[in-house]
Amino acid sequence: MANKTTLALILCISLSCHNQLNSQDKTALGKDIAQNICSVCHGLNGQANTAGSSALVPHLSAQNELYLIQKLKDYKNKKIEHHQMSLIAEMLSKEDIENVSKWYSSIKIEVENIE
Ligand code: HEC
Repeated sequence: MANKTTLALILCISLSCHNQLNSQDKTALGKDIAQNICSVCHGLNGQANTAGSSALVPHLSAQNELYLIQKLKDYKNKKIEHHQMSLIAEMLSKEDIENVSKWYSSIKIEVENIE
């Protein structure tokens, strides 16, 4: 009985090790994607103007994580069609979308108070 429980525990732990990266790992994977794919237009830090892109490219820094995930899914499943973003989102897996959204949402920005 004790052996069965121990075995189940070990199985459970090793499975979860394979399937669940911690939040920091996901952010790091997301940063790689941002560096390799997104930074040309959105900047690695999510400030589109640092990438020398046109005024039509939105900033992504500090954007709500779930908002980013939703937008990328919308481009991927063609709910929103855009000649650049639809192609890019198509290349991303569900995990890529989650990780890259973690990266851009984790960037801290400061908003100045307006008197
Ligand atoms: C070739 C330039 C280019 C690249 C590369 C690119 N984007 Fe974009 N992205 C755009 C443009 C342009 C828009 C605005 C599209 C529109 O008007 O619908 C956009 C829009 C978005 C939006 C929607 C923002 C909003 O508030 O509606 C998200 C999210 C996004 N991009 C994420 C990414 C991610 C993540 C990557 C990398 C995997 C990436 N983009 C790569 C050009 C690019």
